[in-house]
Amino acid sequence: MFEKLQRKWKVNGLDLLLILTTFALGGSICGYVSRRIIGFIGVENEIASIVIYIIILTITWPPCVILTSIPLGQYKFFKKYIFKIFNRFRGKSIAATPEKIATKETTNLAIFASGAGSNAKKIIEHFESNPDIRIALIICNKPGAGVLDIAKKYKIDTLIIERERFFKGDAYINELKKYRVNKIILAGFLWKVPTALLNEWPSSIINIHPALLPKYGGKGMYGQYVHEAVIANNEKESGISIHYVDEIYDNGAIILQEKCEVTETDTPETLAKKIHELEHRYYPITIERVINAKNSLNKTVE
Ligand code: GAR
Repeated sequence: MFEKLQRKWKVNGLDLLLILTTFALGGSICGYVSRRIIGFIGVENEIASIVIYIIILTITWPPCVILTSIPLGQYKFFKKYIFKIFNRFRGKSIAATPEKIATKETTNLAIFASGAGSNAKKIIEHFESNPDIRIALIICNKPGAGVLDIAKKYKIDTLIIERERFFKGDAYINELKKYRVNKIILAGFLWKVPTALLNEWPSSIINIHPALLPKYGGKGMYGQYVHEAVIANNEKESGISIHYVDEIYDNGAIILQEKCEVTETDTPETLAKKIHELEHRYYPITIERVINAKNSLNKTVE
């Protein structure tokens, strides 16, 4: 259970202990304060007193926990945690709709995906509790793709794009600008990125490829075809490549590569599973690292 929590909250053992202590201490202080307030008000009716007690608990819990978290060094975690609960409570999505104007510091991501969307899901979940990075929009070229259901579940706006306009028209640049997109994340998006988009978002478009580039890249090399080719060639290892996108398919500068073993018993399906595990583990954190590195560089320049 503790390991599961550590993974979910992305913290080490000591931080987990301090977080749980904050919950316990903050909760006790909140209970104490609420009882004192009830005593002070002096409510006679038992049912009314329970209702008021619950209301007071709900109101006092966030400040009690936040205050407790400061000496225990867990303020950052609880700030994000309470922000997340608050947004869920208001029924708001984590998406930045055009109306929700992003602050100068917010990084708005557009995820381009055409498939099941398992990577998109992991990215969404990773940034769910991060007020500084938002999934603004999901762009898809396939009506009915699984990623659209994921977008719906997380209340993220979607845009279905058409080939003609994407390649020969305005490449949907104005739509992306409406959402103040700073970074474009390709997560199983199989169309080539047009020059117009590359010029508008230079060094800001990132792709994930399910092989160790430059091997098994290029036009027609995607998803299952990659794994079939890797197995047909008796490769002993495969992996993932996270890279910047340029004018040529699967060619831009590599940001991260991670490997996995290919055994004699592997099939394209079992290999796909291993690759997906690597992708889910590394893509969200790599995106975050790229954004944070860029932001700290901008701050230094300013
Ligand atoms: C991922 O494995 C990704 O690497 C691959 O498509 C899959 C999408 O899965 N992308 C390419 O092959 C790009 N050349 P998902 O829809 O479950 O995220």
